[in-house]
Amino acid sequence: MSSTDIRSSKPAADAATVPLDWSPLSWQNFPVRQLPDYPDQQALESAFADLKKLPPLVNSWEIDALKAKLAKASRGEMFLLQGGDCAETFEHCNSSHIVKLLKVLLQMSFIMVHEMNIGVIRLGRIAGQYAKPRSKPTERVDDIDYPIYRGDLVNGYEADAELRKPSAQRLVEAYHKSGLTLNFIRSLTEGGGFADLHHPEYWELNFMKNNKFYDEYAKMVSSITNAIRFMEGILPTELVNLRQVEMFTSHEALNLYYDSAQTRRSPHKDGWYNMSTHLPWIGNRTRDPKEAHVEYFRGLKNPIGIKVGPPYDIDEIADLVQLLNPSNEEGKITLITRFGSKIVETELPKLIDKIEGRGLKVLWSADPMHGNTFATESGIKTRAFDDIMDEIRKSFAVHRQMGSILGGVHLEMTGEDVTECVGGANGLNAQGLSTNYQSYCDPRLNYEQSLELAFMISREWKASQKKK
Ligand code: PEP
Ligand code: CO
Repeated sequence: MSSTDIRSSKPAADAATVPLDWSPLSWQNFPVRQLPDYPDQQALESAFADLKKLPPLVNSWEIDALKAKLAKASRGEMFLLQGGDCAETFEHCNSSHIVKLLKVLLQMSFIMVHEMNIGVIRLGRIAGQYAKPRSKPTERVDDIDYPIYRGDLVNGYEADAELRKPSAQRLVEAYHKSGLTLNFIRSLTEGGGFADLHHPEYWELNFMKNNKFYDEYAKMVSSITNAIRFMEGILPTELVNLRQVEMFTSHEALNLYYDSAQTRRSPHKDGWYNMSTHLPWIGNRTRDPKEAHVEYFRGLKNPIGIKVGPPYDIDEIADLVQLLNPSNEEGKITLITRFGSKIVETELPKLIDKIEGRGLKVLWSADPMHGNTFATESGIKTRAFDDIMDEIRKSFAVHRQMGSILGGVHLEMTGEDVTECVGGANGLNAQGLSTNYQSYCDPRLNYEQSLELAFMISREWKASQKKK
């Protein structure tokens, strides 16, 4: 696509908040990774033009509200729970999948609120998490090379030459699916459809019986039940806002056509917002400061996430944080570390030292998933629950030692009863993985594993408060 054809955005007038040389499409002047070569340029132009005309999915007030909450989390006054599918698919745009993810996120957050005594920010990897970075451009299936699957935003999952061709029409379809997903989330969370989920007696907790912490969990659950009964019984309905819950969305802003077409100004506000999601994040593979993704993120008013894992250069990460947040605004940057349980204790302190040493304000979040992936003997991609928990435990400990605050977690999880990660109270082993392995990309925690993790994160948080 030629940049002049789609560059209808005028240069920014509000120089105080937007760099003068930036526009939603200035990234086109930089080298770019992970962007597919669309075979049909005209179709790309037309999909981009369609996307630009469609209404925003979220608004700037919601985006600013999230940023303010993330600022609180960076000070330890709230906690960020970010989670969802590794790769959301168009098929996931159905009632059951959405309800199940919302349900597990909500239940995890209630456990955390109750145990940690602070507010929890629920941030789904949802309503736009359709594009995946890949390490190779092609994949060999039955001796035939196909373009690699890059997520439903780009091409089809089946190994079929036609389906694997990047199709620009999918950009528009992704917008529609995101809109439908978001509409359903809003109706459930704002319209009271989720009220019964506050009641732990409806939770499926039997699996916990296998856990060594069962007694402790049982006490927690009964105490949550009592607290809810008390609130509902004693306070006037208008004061108990138990029927409404707040939920935000996030995705990796990888396909810059999709995200830049939805980057807009808001009336009476300075700057540009990516209005396809509340929080876009930069993946570990596209955070080179000299390249297109960083250029795109540089002009956004949204809070943004940055994934940090090997290979990385500490000075470069600190420079990147400064480049993306020149005014050192609180809540703007969430640094999501994903070192893996083996090296987190040696690597995280160096990064904290550099970032805090420069006085850079960030919200520290831990992604215990992406550094802990391995393949079983039969070649199934998985993660062990114990490694995931271990990285979280070590991250809490390192932050405590360094005097910084771990204010969030970033998880790949689903409310479905899948068998993709080994371990957890039910002791899923490598043989059991094939029972219900559905992920098109990375292995996710299932319902039980996610709830168990919420209990364990809360215990770690409490322990870490006591030791302060
Ligand atoms: C992801 O979050 O799915 C992902 C690809 O992560 P990372 O950029 O950290 O590898
Ligand atoms: Co992933």
